[in-house]
Amino acid sequence: MAPLIHSLVWLGFLSAANAITAWQKSNYTFPVPESPANAFSADSFSTKADAIAALKTALGNVTIAGSGDYYYGQTIARVWTNQRKTYPDYIVYPETPEHVSILMQFYSKANSFWGDGFAIMGGGHFDTGGAQSPSVIMDLQRISNTEIVTNPPKNSSEYAILKIGGGAEAGDVYDALDGTGWAFLGPRAASIGVGGFLLGGGIAFQTNEYGTGVDNVVALEMVLLSGEIVMVTPYNEYSDLFWACTGAGWLGFGVVTHFYIRSNPDPGMVTVGTIAWSEDQADQVFEKTAAFWEGNNDVSAFPALLYYLKDPSDISALVPLRERKFTFQLNALYFGGDQKKFNETYGQFFEGASSIVFEEYSLKTLQQYLLTNYPYGYNRLFYGKSHTNSTKEFYQNTFAIYKETVNGMIARGEDPGHTLWVDEYVFPGWNGAGPTDDSVTAWPHSTSAHITLTSGEWTNNSLTEYMYDRDENYMMAYLRDFQNGLGEPDIYDYPNYIAQYSKTSEIWGEQNYKKLLEIKAKYDPECLFNRGRVIATDACVAKGLANTFADS
Ligand SMILES: Cc1cc2nc3c(=O)[nH]c(=O)nc-3n(C[C@H](O)[C@H](O)[C@H](O)COP(=O)(O)OP(=O)(O)OC[C@H]3O[C@@H](n4cnc5c(N)ncnc54)[C@H](O)[C@@H]3O)c2cc1C
Ligand SMILES: *[C@@H]1O[C@H](CO)[C@@H](O)[C@H](O)[C@H]1NC(C)=O
Ligand SMILES: *[C@@H]1O[C@H](CO)[C@@H](O)[C@H](O)[C@H]1NC(C)=O
Ligand SMILES: *[C@@H]1O[C@H](CO)[C@@H](O)[C@H](O)[C@H]1NC(C)=O
Ligand SMILES: *[C@@H]1O[C@H](CO)[C@@H](O)[C@H](O)[C@H]1NC(C)=O
Ligand SMILES: *[C@@H]1O[C@H](CO)[C@@H](O)[C@H](O)[C@H]1NC(C)=O
Ligand SMILES: *[C@@H]1O[C@H](CO)[C@@H](O)[C@H](O)[C@H]1NC(C)=O
Repeated sequence: MAPLIHSLVWLGFLSAANAITAWQKSNYTFPVPESPANAFSADSFSTKADAIAALKTALGNVTIAGSGDYYYGQTIARVWTNQRKTYPDYIVYPETPEHVSILMQFYSKANSFWGDGFAIMGGGHFDTGGAQSPSVIMDLQRISNTEIVTNPPKNSSEYAILKIGGGAEAGDVYDALDGTGWAFLGPRAASIGVGGFLLGGGIAFQTNEYGTGVDNVVALEMVLLSGEIVMVTPYNEYSDLFWACTGAGWLGFGVVTHFYIRSNPDPGMVTVGTIAWSEDQADQVFEKTAAFWEGNNDVSAFPALLYYLKDPSDISALVPLRERKFTFQLNALYFGGDQKKFNETYGQFFEGASSIVFEEYSLKTLQQYLLTNYPYGYNRLFYGKSHTNSTKEFYQNTFAIYKETVNGMIARGEDPGHTLWVDEYVFPGWNGAGPTDDSVTAWPHSTSAHITLTSGEWTNNSLTEYMYDRDENYMMAYLRDFQNGLGEPDIYDYPNYIAQYSKTSEIWGEQNYKKLLEIKAKYDPECLFNRGRVIATDACVAKGLANTFADS
């Protein structure tokens, strides 16, 4: 594709939406703690053992865990994808930005002992390997506070600004906000890290009304490799870093110790309908889904269509394999707790259902709704591509590919467990809360699109290659062809759902990728952040560590 040319052609068309992000229409700054000065002298250490001893002294009572320690095991167990589990030398648990600063000063001086590079772990859910390393990991789980830093009266048109620890999990934030009247555009399941989620985009429960998580971030407290603790905003000397963090922030620019993000008013109760059909209902389910995805104009509605192998009349259980059937499931959410509106919006989907389960949630409890689909302890994939338009054929074709994959898993002796495919409905133009154009954020997303996801689950390692092949060469290949055939404005892969085979030009676009290289070279000139996706700066290429190149 040719993103630049298409963007220019479509600019006039897109501006009709008048979209603007929260950070584009505000200008906040916040104080940061003073950086601890020169924690290490040049001759602090000459061996790995000396180095760790010096780090222990400098960090005081901060936990540094090794193999066999409880915390060490707990961190490894939080790595969601089994095939990513890595056992490092040490895991460090900083509690403050100052601790992270000391750690960065240490790593800048002692990195020659750890050629594999340090990793930063948030919630442990991403499958790029960015949070794993055989050397040293900083697990940010103890920097997980949530604070309301500006709290305008509810009758004003302003929303509160939240300060959230870079190592918080979604559940920490929902719990802290419960009863405050404010809500967080956060991950949709309790154990997902706020860190990776916000740095790679952030599709939240209420994205249809308020936009993505990252478009609501207004400032970042970051620790640079030098150990400097800095305030990063779209308007100060670190505006380039802010830009990099709008959809590519986990490519290794620094450690985010706190996010400042605009909240939205708590919607109160959420009505959830889980509607399931058996395969013989395919025609009407696909027709209605396509019509809804094309025509909805209610921002309070957030549905997703799932393909599944389970019993359509007993959807909460994984019954024995031979009793399972291919099942369609609509996860129908409606914000505001109005059952009548729920029925008006989704009543058309009740026809032919094998089961309909109605539930009421608050935002605090909604974080549990999706969790059962995503247990720990398996090999997983969690990858997808987006599409602007939906048709009946789109669902027929994606279902056929999904079905063949699942049948192939069974033929290889595997229980497909929670292997599912989802199509998440996204409101046109992010309801006016997206970026003005594709260059103002690292992830180009001025055009909104529905987001698909294949979530595979398998136990036998010999299936991994088969699962990747099915996803890359069948599902993703189809999704790419479908979207390219529409002649709609360019869209890009949702960064938090990328696979190792996702293409640079389809995630960030060529222009934004070039800019990311410059910013990475400036803030990480020696390529010391080199886990997971590593973009091809001169230093990363020279070290032989780059794995993400310009591809067109
Ligand atoms: C079950 C499940 C549910 C999900 N639900 C959603 C959802 O509802 N919406 C959505 O948009 N996405 C969702 N995702 C995708 C998710 O947002 C990404 O996987 C995200 O990267 C996870 O972040 P993490 O902190 O948990 O992961 P980690 O693997 O810990 O971190 C991801 C990357 O970010 C880096 N990182 C993390 N924190 C920091 C920090 N503070 N400073 C610097 N770098 C940091 C890590 O080094 C790593 O490279 C889900 C994923 C799973 C597996
Ligand atoms: C943002 O605010 C700062 C003062 O805090 C000011 O110096 C700067 O000019 C402002 N920038 C914009 C774009 O409004
Ligand atoms: C570390 O020490 C400080 C005081 O020096 C104390 O406030 C803090 O709770 C201690 N942390 C742990 C994990 O023991
Ligand atoms: C908002 O409510 C406060 C009291 O909480 C009141 O003093 C103020 O006048 C109200 N403002 C508006 C614009 O209604
Ligand atoms: C919504 O529809 C369901 C299923 O038909 C019905 O049981 C329920 O009473 C309806 N609720 C309202 C408020 O209309
Ligand atoms: C995994 O599958 C292969 C066949 O593809 C089989 O030979 C092997 O025994 C299986 N391993 C386990 C642990 O079941
Ligand atoms: C895609 O959907 C948009 C509305 O969201 C519509 O204007 C456009 O015509 C559709 N494109 C195709 C190729 O169907």
